[in-house]
This record gives sequence, structure tokens and C-alpha cells, in this order.
Amino acid sequence: MGKKISDLVTWVGKTDWQLKTFHGDELSTNHGSSYNAYLIRDEKTVLIDTVWQPFDKEFVARLKEEVNLQDIDYIVMCHNEVDHSGALVELMREIPETPIYCTAAGEKILRGMYHQDWNYVNVKTGDTLNIGKSTLTFIQAPFLHWPDTMFAYLDSEAILFSNDAFGQHYATESLFNDVNCKEEIFAEAIKYYANIVAPYSNLVTKKVNEVLGMNLPIHMIAPSHGVIWRENPTEIVEKYLEWANDYQENQVAIIYDTMWNSTRIMAECIADGIRKFDENIKVKLINAAKEDKSDILTEVYRSKAVLLGSPTYNHGYLYSIAGMIEIIKGSAFKNKKGSAFGSYGWSGEAVKKLNEELAACGFEVVDDGLKCIWIPDEAMIENCRTYGYEFAKKIAE
Ligand code: FEO
Repeated sequence: MGKKISDLVTWVGKTDWQLKTFHGDELSTNHGSSYNAYLIRDEKTVLIDTVWQPFDKEFVARLKEEVNLQDIDYIVMCHNEVDHSGALVELMREIPETPIYCTAAGEKILRGMYHQDWNYVNVKTGDTLNIGKSTLTFIQAPFLHWPDTMFAYLDSEAILFSNDAFGQHYATESLFNDVNCKEEIFAEAIKYYANIVAPYSNLVTKKVNEVLGMNLPIHMIAPSHGVIWRENPTEIVEKYLEWANDYQENQVAIIYDTMWNSTRIMAECIADGIRKFDENIKVKLINAAKEDKSDILTEVYRSKAVLLGSPTYNHGYLYSIAGMIEIIKGSAFKNKKGSAFGSYGWSGEAVKKLNEELAACGFEVVDDGLKCIWIPDEAMIENCRTYGYEFAKKIAE
């Protein structure tokens, strides 16, 4: 089970090849995931994090192949969401007295979820645990992405155990970044950031700068999902600073749903107009009813502007667009512009309502949007192209 990642540290996690969704069905995981746990063997033996509950028995059985459980001196829980704490109950049946090092918020979460009076030891930023030749230093990182989150730093080998931060949902037999496809890893890392970390971007900037300000040598960053950053580990740290800083690419996402194709035709003609203004703008046309919501959110995050399109339906707009609005609202993206468009037959409220929702999402709404009655005729098709051109001009200002 174990895979040595350094002289002192062995990976003892679980690779979940068949995971297709995470957080229930909230987040798609097209490359599976892993729940990374680590065993440090110095004069003392330390387990960092566990795995998701469905793998609890397997985890404990395989951990026994690696170490006599009675020899584990400390458990460090950097974050206590069930994908990392889920095997604790099974493990603690065997070693009930072993101290669990976690933040005070972490203890509350563990007590609330597992209702166990384990031997908790609360730690905060700057607290240390000497384990022989090495010392572990704890660094609280609240709301990256839960209130309990903390990092642990192993000085002797300069390894930062960062839990969810810098992670990716990516299953691989080869644990390190330099032996996996860079493009895939970074695509998963930005999806992870957009879908999980982005609401806390202001805290990311502060925390990353705080850690960099400690001037700790960092040879590896070992997160709780996906690859371990061994080659150029600060590359992902720099990416986090970039992503946390109102990130956008020269991209417009046109996210629409359609009943009888009128709104789809509008979307495609608006895209023509945008590209006519600037052929370098990437325009992503996405039917929200057909594409994956987590991937759509990633495209919204990458975009400098978003156009939402829906026909008017029962005085409102279509369900798939309503769902995307809810996800976008919670993500609290900054520095994005937008507007709306859609077809209608008689009442035609959708465009106005969509623009109100975009404003509620924190977007700068740049115009009143564009409506089309029934099916676009030649004049309306030209209107859509002109609208796209003018929209692209406004978001360039
Ligand atoms: Fe990977 Fe927030 O748990």
C-alpha cells in the first residue's frame, strides 16, 4: 500500500479511480481522485490525515501492513471533512488513546460528526511537535476551505502538508507532478480552485503570502488530493496567487439553454459578433442543460465576461440556467462583466430577470441585454451579431 515519497515519509492514502462526483453530486471528477494520507517515521511516528469512509477498513488493513498501529504516536488531522476523517472511527477502534492533533475548530467538527471523546490536542499557528530529528510546525489556514483547515510543515525534509490547498481531483499511480501530464494536472487544479477554493480568494492571497513570508524552504508540497508537487513546487503556489487575484482570461462564456433553438441561434450569432470585434477572444458556447455544471463554472471563472441566455418560460427562465446562477452566486467571483439574451413568445421576462441575477452575483451588467420574439429572422440575426460586437466593445473598455 505504502509509497515512499522521501526518507521519512510514506504515502498511505487511497487512489479512487472510479470516483465520478464529489461532494455528493455537486462536483464532477472526470479523472477520479485520491485521498492522500502520509506516515512520517522519525523517532516518533505520525499519521497525517486518513481517507474517505467507504475505504476505512481497507485503509486500516493496509496501514497495518505498513506499521504496527500501536507504534503510531500522533495523528495529525489537517482538515476534517469526511474525505479525510472518514477512516478515523475504524482506526481509533484500534488505537483509542492516540492523540489527535487538530485545530479547535477541527475538534468541534470531529465531535459533531463522530460523537467521540477522543484524545484531542488543539494546535494553532506556530505550535510545534518535535518528533525526533524533525519538527512539525502547524499553520492554521481557516477557510481554505473549511474553518478547521491547517497546514503542517516538516522541517527536516522541507515538506508542506497542505491538505486541500494545491490539490486536484486526479487519480494516478505515479504520485509526483513531474511524472504526470502537466496539462491535465493544471486543468484539474484550476477546476478545483474555481469550484472549491475561489469563494475564499482573499484569504488565499493572505495565507499564501504569510507562508511565503516565513521563508521556509519547500522541497515538496503534499496535498490531500492528487499529485505531490515535487518539481518546481512553488509553481502551483504562484498559480494560486494569480488565481486569487480576480483571475480572468481573454474569454467570454455564452451559457444558454434553448427550447426550439431560437436562443441557440441567438447565442451563435452573438458569438460571431464578439469574434468580429476581437478575433483573439476565446468564445465558449455552452448549453447548460447538456454540459457538466462544474466544468461550466470553471469556464465562468476563466472568463472576463459571461452572457446568460434563456427563452422566457412560465414568466422566468429555464431550470438549467437557474441552477448555474445559484452556483455562480455562491462562488463570489470578482471583476466579471455580463448580460443576458433570449427568445420569447409573449411575456418575455427572462432577460430582465437574468440581468438582475447577474447583478446579484456581483457581475457588472453592461447593458439591458437582447430579446427576440419567436424565431430570429434575417434582421434579428444581424441584430444579434451587432449586439455581440457591441458587447465585446463594452467589456474591452
Ligand atoms: Fe478534501 Fe475539504 O476535503
